[in-house]
Amino acid sequence: MPNNTEREQWATKIGLILAVAGNAVGLGNFLRFPVQAAQNGGGAFMIPYFIFFLLLGIPLMWIEWGIGRNGGRYKHGSAPGMFDVIWKNKIAKYFGALGLFISMTILIYYTYIESWTLGYSIFSVSKLYFDADTAETMKNFLYSYQGREEGVHFTNILPAYILMLITFSLNFWILYRGISKGIERLAKIAMPLLLLFATILAVRIILLGTPDPSVPENSVWTGFGFIWNPDFTLLGDPKIWLAAAGQIFFTLSVGMGTIHAYASYLKPKDDIVLSGLTTASTNGFAEVVLGATIAIPVAVAFFGLDATKEFAKGGAFDLGFVSMPLIFQRLPVGELFGFLWFLLLFFAGITSSVAMGQPVIAFLEDEFGMDRKKAVGLLAIVILIAVQFVVFFLKYGFLDEMDYWAGTFGLVVFAFVETILFMWVFGADKAWKEMNEGGDFKIPGMFYYIMKYITPLILFVIMVWWLINDAIPILLLEHVSPENVPYIWGARALMVSLFVGLLLMVKKAWTKYSNVEVKN
Ligand code: PHE
Repeated sequence: MPNNTEREQWATKIGLILAVAGNAVGLGNFLRFPVQAAQNGGGAFMIPYFIFFLLLGIPLMWIEWGIGRNGGRYKHGSAPGMFDVIWKNKIAKYFGALGLFISMTILIYYTYIESWTLGYSIFSVSKLYFDADTAETMKNFLYSYQGREEGVHFTNILPAYILMLITFSLNFWILYRGISKGIERLAKIAMPLLLLFATILAVRIILLGTPDPSVPENSVWTGFGFIWNPDFTLLGDPKIWLAAAGQIFFTLSVGMGTIHAYASYLKPKDDIVLSGLTTASTNGFAEVVLGATIAIPVAVAFFGLDATKEFAKGGAFDLGFVSMPLIFQRLPVGELFGFLWFLLLFFAGITSSVAMGQPVIAFLEDEFGMDRKKAVGLLAIVILIAVQFVVFFLKYGFLDEMDYWAGTFGLVVFAFVETILFMWVFGADKAWKEMNEGGDFKIPGMFYYIMKYITPLILFVIMVWWLINDAIPILLLEHVSPENVPYIWGARALMVSLFVGLLLMVKKAWTKYSNVEVKN
């Protein structure tokens, strides 16, 4: 039987909290959040954001920690086995394959984006982009680095490719070192540094005030006003609510199977109530205090509110990789601030990407009895093959297609499935007892009803809404330019292959079990 060996464990409680916080705090907090807020009306976005933090984010955190710790008790570190123990039905484990698929698919493109931040930290200290002093030239810098267009600074994709390989190797090296010696150690170093760098940048930006006194409306305070003045007039627009829900999922890393994997390395009576809340709050702090204080206010101070909104419209990366580098050129010792900004992004990214690798590794170890070296090696090969497409087909929308299905739509589907399984199939009373077991305090009773009724209801509504308004049009290739169509199908073919491959592996793992002895 593969499961006789001792499972790994977190070495310290603080290490565990930092690791889960590191999982959640990522590029989503510093790059995705400002873009989403600016695209969706600033203060109008923050209202549904906080509502969903309470009704989706926190409940899902506890649910996932609960499912994860419970799975760990039966030596399951990934969703197939975890679902199998809470629902005694043959198909339960196949639903769990979704938890492997989503984290693995996000890992494929996320490591590539993460590698840009490493590159840009080097380009900051070396002042490489300091002569690209307009939005156009800075965009060209980015696009030529990504191999999307010709440029003065980069004539081919080699630098980006090498940095991808470095980032990729670092990730897999950490995963290879394991839970306490790899992931936990990384979090203990990267998280405090990241918070420190973000604080330095936030303070520096606040001190900027109004950089050009002759244009008083271009100040950091206008930026803060934009984010923090609640704007109720736009609340009738469902788009803003959906964007806020999507952000809550992505930023808290819920609905993907990574929290479960981390929680499975807890002891059965370790607290999850306070830990879950602490990690959700740390992520919230990194997002609405630090994340919100950096990219938007500083862009408003230098370029004005309208231009900032334009930047945000330009794409997910323009605020971080175009507007910020332009600003660093205008700050004294800007190369140093640029270095801090991109290194902070890199730390935020790597503590998240290792989390995306862990579910599949745990799956291979726990269900196939592979040793870690083999499990990490196998995942590395698959990811390395898949990432080639992302790198070379970036300009054809390959990454965006994966991000939509795995990083947006998939999260809601998975979250809905797990909530129903835990709160309804396993049973709300048992689930409640499980989550509160060993807790440093008890979850407030109100959340019992939220988790049982409100969270699944909201998830269902969002899922159906997205299906009708986004998923179907996207599936039918509306708004896709004809030359991208083959690549979009390529991205889909890749995702389907990964998913089917995972389903088959789940099947294989359980066939093995039934041949040896009955599991659980
Ligand atoms: N929460 C991370 C972020 O904000 C992203 C992430 C996605 C982490 C999937 C783990 C798994 O960037």
